[in-house]
Amino acid sequence: MSDLTDLYREVILDHNRQPRNFGELDDADRVIEGVNPLCGDRMTLYIKLDDGRVDDVRFTGTGCAISVASSSLMTERVKGTTVDESLALFKQVHRMLTEQTDENECTELGKLAALSGVREYPSRIKCASLAWHALRTALTSDDEAISTE
Ligand code: FES
Repeated sequence: MSDLTDLYREVILDHNRQPRNFGELDDADRVIEGVNPLCGDRMTLYIKLDDGRVDDVRFTGTGCAISVASSSLMTERVKGTTVDESLALFKQVHRMLTEQTDENECTELGKLAALSGVREYPSRIKCASLAWHALRTALTSDDEAISTE
């Protein structure tokens, strides 16, 4: 196993064991529920916006290690970014999860590149993308729920 694969695995395990930004956000402007219909796992995303920025973001829910780690990594990364930056990040991550991207593109994503391993396992792509689809929907529409179907 390569050092990079070991590193990615460590990042996933760490964020699954100690999810960042886990919990409800009482004064959230946007609350959205995401479900992975393949397994029934759900997560709820809470976002507080301030002047076009993601001022605070948290999540609750249960899921596999990949989905919890992905939610944790996503909240850590988008907190403090502008809405446009968050949406650009969604596109980059979605591309990394669903298309063949080169190592440089993954490197640009920093710790988020730890999610790239799911590309080899189509059923896990929905686990990794659930939080990201919730993020995009929360920032672009008034919908209150999304499904990765
Ligand atoms: Fe349910 Fe991964 S198995 S979200």
